[in-house]
Amino acid sequence: MSKTVAVIGLGYLGATTAVALALVGHRVIGIDQDAAKVEALSAGKLPFYEPGLDEALTEALATSNLVFQSAHDHGSRDVDVFLLCVGTPQQRNGYGADLRYLESAVDALTPYLRSGAIVTGKSTVPVGTADYLRYRIEQQTNVDVHVSWNPEFLREGNALKDTLTPDRIVLGTQDAHSLTVLRELYQPMAEAGVPIVEVDIKTAELVKIAANSFLAMKISFVNAMAEISEGVGADAVSLATALGYDERIGNKFLRTGIGFGGGCLPKDIRAFQARANELGLGASVAFLADMEDINLRRRTRVLDIAKAELGDLNGRRVTMLGAAFKPETDDIRDSPAMAVADLLWSAGADVTVHDPKAIDNVHAMYPHLRATADLDEALQGADLVVVGTEWAEYALADPQAAAALVTRPLVIDGRNVLPYRAWQAAGWKVIALGRNLDNALVTA
Ligand code: UGA
Repeated sequence: MSKTVAVIGLGYLGATTAVALALVGHRVIGIDQDAAKVEALSAGKLPFYEPGLDEALTEALATSNLVFQSAHDHGSRDVDVFLLCVGTPQQRNGYGADLRYLESAVDALTPYLRSGAIVTGKSTVPVGTADYLRYRIEQQTNVDVHVSWNPEFLREGNALKDTLTPDRIVLGTQDAHSLTVLRELYQPMAEAGVPIVEVDIKTAELVKIAANSFLAMKISFVNAMAEISEGVGADAVSLATALGYDERIGNKFLRTGIGFGGGCLPKDIRAFQARANELGLGASVAFLADMEDINLRRRTRVLDIAKAELGDLNGRRVTMLGAAFKPETDDIRDSPAMAVADLLWSAGADVTVHDPKAIDNVHAMYPHLRATADLDEALQGADLVVVGTEWAEYALADPQAAAALVTRPLVIDGRNVLPYRAWQAAGWKVIALGRNLDNALVTA
């Protein structure tokens, strides 16, 4: 049965959720206090790069199921479910999650809540946040409001597909009415075969942060094996391939390299530790601190290799291939590529960053670095090339043409994506993180 939904917060999560729910037939009001964002979305323009979402936005707008506005109005009184999709960034002065956007979203919403209203969080939050928000609402109104949690698992670069056909949908409720309405909201997904997991609210809050911690753990595990491999002359990519054939382990999220970044995994594992410490349960997730150390060491490893190869980095020209924290996004938040670029710059190198999509963000956040979307221009005169993001165009680049542009054909593959035998054949010295490329048995 079609529902009326308000999606509050129109970033990656909210914009994608609004579009997806409109496409499956619900009436959606997307709300964000940023009037420029609302105007852009209303005109069918996405304020960020996400493959396929712009076409889907146009399609959803054409159905008249989707409108955007910068504040609540009388229409909010007819809403069946309010979905909270605002960001929960890391606190400025701590490791915990900053809940201020959730607080202000709830405060703006409360005057419009009628008795029986359903407020459902989708943002990634510390366990206990739903209880806290319910308490906050109760302090401001006498109406009877139901709060529930329905965490989102979408990946940037794959956001629409992950929303329309996710691996699972988790519904965390504590009242029958919310559960019934949320089941109806996701009926189209359930009919398409998506498993629905119905749990209590605290479990729902925890599932998301546990999932992100587990993913980060897989990456850090394989990167720890990369450190060991480097120490003993083994090959971590071959090791990961062999591990991945074990179905209990699986081959996903075992790509070695400069590690994980982005607006989610790093801040989520920090927030999890902070919350667990608050609850006196810190020992249970103490291993997350080791994971983060492994992750950050992969970044400094690139700096160490650069120094070992070039000596003093002062004035050396380094080209960083990639700025986005992963391909198919223009998001550079906590990007490993940008962290490495900055480390090299701090050591005196003259750094040029290339990225096919994220250059505007690089200019805005790293004004001290040169940045271009032109690959040839980026490679010109380089003493060292570093692959920081696994954009397909780097794996497809012609190593011979690239060699003709640089001063010194030296590349550190921080994502293990280059067909390195072809690069070696074109005269490049290739150093790949965690790999032993001198071993003739290494062919992958
Ligand atoms: C992550 C989760 O995968 C989503 O399920 C979750 O919904 C989302 O966070 C969120 O909390 O909103 P995302 O940040 O878009 O999604 O990116 P991932 O695909 O998880 O990649 C994270 C980082 O790990 C990237 O920097 C990527 O390059 C790196 N990575 C990934 C590796 O270094 N190795 C791998 O094998 C896989």
